[in-house]
Amino acid sequence: MPATQIRPAGQLAPLVAGIRSVVERHADWTETALLVADELRRNLLTPDVLTPEQRLGSPDDYTGHTLHVEPDGSFSVVALVWRPGQLTRIHDHITWCAFAVIQGVEHEELYSAELELLGESDNHVGDVSGFAPPGDIHRVHNTADTTAISIHVYGTDVTRVGSSARRYYD
Ligand SMILES: [Fe+2]
Repeated sequence: MPATQIRPAGQLAPLVAGIRSVVERHADWTETALLVADELRRNLLTPDVLTPEQRLGSPDDYTGHTLHVEPDGSFSVVALVWRPGQLTRIHDHITWCAFAVIQGVEHEELYSAELELLGESDNHVGDVSGFAPPGDIHRVHNTADTTAISIHVYGTDVTRVGSSARRYYD
């Protein structure tokens, strides 16, 4: 696993500083998620935040790379790499979340608690989204024919809790 970076280098540093300033406001989860989404837009990372090998993804499943864990555990920044056709299970989250697409296209479906499809969108490079439970049941799917990469920020230390998913709805 990549080690915790207390002082992240390069393009990650301004993003982490921006997220930290949002989190330190201790706003409610929904407002925090939306403000962090703004930081992701303002400090949009480029795919070279990952190594060429990491950017290839895996034939088995989408892959995650932890870019930063805040030392106090208040947030984590993770890059996810999706080959064509790879997708999550339908899930919700234990905390607020914001994400930005930095390569390719990600198709997102939002569901009600009864698992009715409420809406769907195609997120392109530069598109950001922020949300918080409840009402955060979704599935992300790379429906395009190129590899997609997105940056996800979660309001917890994902390396300690293991996953940002609260529950799966299969
Ligand atoms: Fe999710």
